[in-house]
Amino acid sequence: MKKYISFVALAFTLLFVLGRNVTLMPAQQKAAHAVAGTKLLPAFPDFGNMLPPSDYNGRTFKLSQDYPRVKPAMDPAVQKILQIDYTKNWKKYALAVRDYVFQGNIERGVTDSFYLEENPVRRWYHVPWQHYGPFGREGIHGLTKEGPEQPQTLAPTQTQEWQTYAVGFYNAPGGWMIGRVWADPNNPRPDIMQKEGFPIGTVVGKVLFTTAPPSQVPYLSAPIEWLAYTTKSFKPISNYPKDNPRSITTVRFIQMDIMVRDPRAAKTGGWVFGTFVYNGALAGQNTNPWYNTVPVGLQWGNDPGVTSHAGGNPAPTKTEINPDLKETVINTSDDLPPMHLGFGLRLNGPVDNTMSSCMSCHSTAEFPAVSALAPGFVFKPDGTPAFQPGSPGWMRWFRNVQCATPFDKEATSTDYSLQLAGSVQNFMSAKAAQVGGLYHVQYWKGKPVWMIYGERGATPSGTQ
Ligand code: HEC
Repeated sequence: MKKYISFVALAFTLLFVLGRNVTLMPAQQKAAHAVAGTKLLPAFPDFGNMLPPSDYNGRTFKLSQDYPRVKPAMDPAVQKILQIDYTKNWKKYALAVRDYVFQGNIERGVTDSFYLEENPVRRWYHVPWQHYGPFGREGIHGLTKEGPEQPQTLAPTQTQEWQTYAVGFYNAPGGWMIGRVWADPNNPRPDIMQKEGFPIGTVVGKVLFTTAPPSQVPYLSAPIEWLAYTTKSFKPISNYPKDNPRSITTVRFIQMDIMVRDPRAAKTGGWVFGTFVYNGALAGQNTNPWYNTVPVGLQWGNDPGVTSHAGGNPAPTKTEINPDLKETVINTSDDLPPMHLGFGLRLNGPVDNTMSSCMSCHSTAEFPAVSALAPGFVFKPDGTPAFQPGSPGWMRWFRNVQCATPFDKEATSTDYSLQLAGSVQNFMSAKAAQVGGLYHVQYWKGKPVWMIYGERGATPSGTQ
């Protein structure tokens, strides 16, 4: 029912925008004339959650959806990255990717950062169909609602739950592949993805923001702040939007994620994941605040056999390292604020689940979503956890799944892209709401498939 409501809301917004074009002011008429001959509407909506135009006159998010039609050559900057040995020179690799993601996106001041259409250096692309439903993109920066951040997981001074909002984007080879999966906006083709996978040299960036204030999270001093159209609290979504209305609030940059399709990682899954945290204590050192972003570490495999440190470090006062891990590397320098990390101290960022890890969660990217994103999300009918941490069932989430290979053999892989898996799932939900029916792929062996959204949050003390 809630999905139906948001579809109707979207249709109204669309009507409203179209209706407005009838009474254009002279300057707008000129602008409209300049685009005459181009299509009025692109294939995919830009965002789904926003104030009506009568109540907001600021800048809005534009979905970068002009996907390349021809396979792009590898960017020379990426070629350089792929020559850095991430096992020996991990920090150099991480910073090179960070700066590649920053370049052209952060020079116009904080408010206008990451409006991809203004990047003068290179094109980046968004995944469509992230606008839909209660977790869908808001209209100022295109942020999706990611998950809750439970007390103490960000810092010992964090006393209450906050929320994460984020926006991700792909470089040209990734954009080309997204465009192929979505070449027909009415018939997405995840099978093309499974057949080919993302091209080598695909780079993905994602900037994550929190509603937490610096008074609760000391490393958010001198913050990078955006306005965003957010819900009041993370829950509830059951009566959305009635019980949890959205309004324009301030969110603060806390984490940046990267993924690189690197051929040298072929044996462990084909991707190198990395994450960074904002550290306001560095504010005096850098004129552009985005450079106060410190690497947490890299991960290129799940270390399948390792079950040590299963309790993790969910309320961190210092960063703990697990020496058994060979496919995760963590920053040990003083510029890293205390971090909790993931299961067995595998790589995860400050806003992430303490019992998962980057590659674990992303290895589940498939359509339909037959398995949950993390083992801790699965419960028996009596409400007790289905898997004990470190047990064989649990460790199914810590295999090294080959790229473009589904987590469950019955499903179709979206090659570690949870946004792409989510886009197809959202499309199915919208389509079902529109035609007032359901499709068999929305069930799996008699059970509904798993939700891909709103599940990214950190959890305290290993409970789910
Ligand atoms: C518990 C699950 C979970 C964990 C852990 C997790 N992610 Fe994600 N991630 C998601 C989901 C769901 C999405 C898609 C939703 C979105 O982006 O709004 C996503 C999206 C992304 C994207 C955008 C690309 C895409 O299409 O999937 C990147 C990049 C990314 N994550 C990197 C990371 C990194 C790096 C880490 C570890 C620091 C990490 N993720 C940990 C669930 C997770």
